[in-house]
Amino acid sequence: MAKVRFLGHSAFEVEIGGKKILIDPFINGNPQAPCKPGDLDPDYIVVTHGHGDHLGDAVEIAIKRKATIIAPYEVAVYCGNKGAKTHAMHIGGSYPFDFGVIRLTPAFHGSTIIEEDGTMIPGGNPAGVLIEAGGKVLYHAGDTGLFGDMKLIGDRYEISVALLPIGGNFTMDIEDALYAAELLHPGVVIPMHYNTFPVIEADPEEFVSRLPDSIKGVILAPGEEYEF
Ligand code: NI
Ligand code: MN
Repeated sequence: MAKVRFLGHSAFEVEIGGKKILIDPFINGNPQAPCKPGDLDPDYIVVTHGHGDHLGDAVEIAIKRKATIIAPYEVAVYCGNKGAKTHAMHIGGSYPFDFGVIRLTPAFHGSTIIEEDGTMIPGGNPAGVLIEAGGKVLYHAGDTGLFGDMKLIGDRYEISVALLPIGGNFTMDIEDALYAAELLHPGVVIPMHYNTFPVIEADPEEFVSRLPDSIKGVILAPGEEYEF
């Protein structure tokens, strides 16, 4: 059994392989967040890229809970310099953790880290992530536009649940996310990265209603979870 709880925007808490893994824990400043950063007690935190709405409260939570941040190398080094325990990886790389395998995938986006005083720190390349454990595969696309190698990812890994951005402007919109879903052909798709801010407004009902019959669409309200 595995489950995934939506924390608003692109933030999720995944329970898989007996561990709790936060992905992109943007909680402070996230108008959809159903909890406070201090309520979360993960074993690991995956950060897909350096933007504030993904890096979020990762460092604070990691230090408080002695959790390990798993991120693309540059973002991992940044978090390590801030005092967090980290495990650096990069796109195409996989590593067997105690709960299962993490694999980073490409994402077409940026990853610059912007400090509170406006200082910009290069964050390397953004990523998506595959979490494989107990015969289940969860794919979090990160922030990305549509790209053809989603077909490669879909053919190579049998994805149980795909978390796909649908809000447009910074990422895929509904039209492109529908195309992505066909390339990835997961069992279930859960939309993310929409309606947090006016510029990424999108109707998740429209998205799930237009998925092919072979793919189940699940809309999670912030705080809701899905077992898979
Ligand atoms: Ni971003
Ligand atoms: Mn984002």
